[in-house]
Amino acid sequence: MKDAPKVEVAPAKGRLGILIPGMGAVATTFIAGVLAVRKGIGQPIGSLTQMGTIRLGKRTENRVPMIKDFAPLSSLDDLYFGGWDIFEENMYESAVHAGVLDKNLLDDIRPEMEAIKPWKGVFSKDYVKKLDGSYVKTGGTKWDYAQMVMDDIKSFKDKNNLDRMVMVWCGSTEIFLKPEDVHQTLAAFEQGLKDDHPSIAPSMIYAYAAIKMGIPYANGAPNLSADIPALYELAKQTQTPITGKDFKTGQTLMKTILAPGLKARLLGISGWFSTNILGNRDGEVLDDPASFKTKEESKLSVLDQILQPEVYPDLYKDYYHKVRINYYPPRGDNKEGWDNIDIFGWLGYPMQIKIDFLCRDSILAAPIVLDLALFLDLAKRSGFSGIQEWLSFYWKSPMVLEGLYPEHDIFIQLMKLKNTLRYMMGEDQITHLGADYYEYYR
Ligand SMILES: NC(=O)c1ccc[n+]([C@@H]2O[C@H](COP(=O)([O-])OP(=O)(O)OC[C@H]3O[C@@H](n4cnc5c(N)ncnc54)[C@H](O)[C@@H]3O)[C@@H](O)[C@H]2O)c1
Repeated sequence: MKDAPKVEVAPAKGRLGILIPGMGAVATTFIAGVLAVRKGIGQPIGSLTQMGTIRLGKRTENRVPMIKDFAPLSSLDDLYFGGWDIFEENMYESAVHAGVLDKNLLDDIRPEMEAIKPWKGVFSKDYVKKLDGSYVKTGGTKWDYAQMVMDDIKSFKDKNNLDRMVMVWCGSTEIFLKPEDVHQTLAAFEQGLKDDHPSIAPSMIYAYAAIKMGIPYANGAPNLSADIPALYELAKQTQTPITGKDFKTGQTLMKTILAPGLKARLLGISGWFSTNILGNRDGEVLDDPASFKTKEESKLSVLDQILQPEVYPDLYKDYYHKVRINYYPPRGDNKEGWDNIDIFGWLGYPMQIKIDFLCRDSILAAPIVLDLALFLDLAKRSGFSGIQEWLSFYWKSPMVLEGLYPEHDIFIQLMKLKNTLRYMMGEDQITHLGADYYEYYR
């Protein structure tokens, strides 16, 4: 096997700007959380970059640094936030509206939150039927809007004296779109922007603007956005890392933890029924069938890949998988997700597992936004570009190179992520199989 080339990682010096299209529940919970951690009034729980460790070398070496001490990541003190929305509320107002975080906590960081005001969004109701925003850019073609987004980014950079930037889409889920001719090449896509092509959604315009400027891009929603050949081409051209789609939180997180375990023990599954109630704006948007279809596709794909029914027909061939999302306003952001799993064991005897997850969507999503921002910036400084499969850990529908299937098993995803960090930093990959292990047994 040929040796992988050495990676030169540029230091994380200076300021990192985090650009966020869509400054609702997830974005405000993320920003407020970083500000709270900086002030020492909260802990970044759920964040691999802040709380995770990484084993290096052999177990006997006892080298287990924190990830943030091992890889040169930006410090939380160096982060600056900017973004777009279709409502004019500042981050304090938007966080109060989202109702995720305690008012007392928000009051402790109120001036900093109030100082972050969104720029006018690129929006059309054609792509999110349930929203009516008035704070939007007008009077141009999609091409013009892309230029306006780039202008916003340039002035944010200058104003805050930023060294680098990343963009994480936290906007609403757009309607289901399939890749078409206009998405296949950069030339066709740029022409489509100029022609106001209906299959170019707002999230693609932000993604185009970022990638064109060499700014890494992550897509937290299930809509296509940067997951089209035209933008892979641009990402390679401008040497920009991209990643997505759809933050892996809540029920799908549970699925990708449980399903690999059941499969590891070769327990059969005859059915997996998942239903949710949630009452935030995201839930309202997903109440529209066109936006729900995008989410449903994203949620359904996970089990098939993990269970491999074609390899294990006796265990998984005919399993029935259903996912439901119900908008129920009284719950706000505090979703309740039920799973009923019908499994079978030795001689086909049936058993059942019931899960009732009283989860908080944005509390689970916020650390993902932080990790993605820091890891994408690290990827850029390491000279990585295009689709970053090593970040599959964070996604319900990981973007993959053409011809490959996505990896959904969270344990394989974590191994891939940590091995990529080891590779970047010139450490040995850990396979759990050392030469001394063989010697002992033979
Ligand atoms: N919270 C989670 O656990 C989770 C998990 C996976 C994916 N997501 C996705 O993350 C996204 C954000 O979730 P949320 O709970 O913060 O939703 P939210 O409704 O609170 O926030 C979304 C924000 O995006 C804004 N927006 C919509 N279209 C826009 C546009 N074109 N330009 C600028 N702003 C726009 C909306 O006005 C809103 O403020 C959603 O797409 C959701 O499906 C969330």
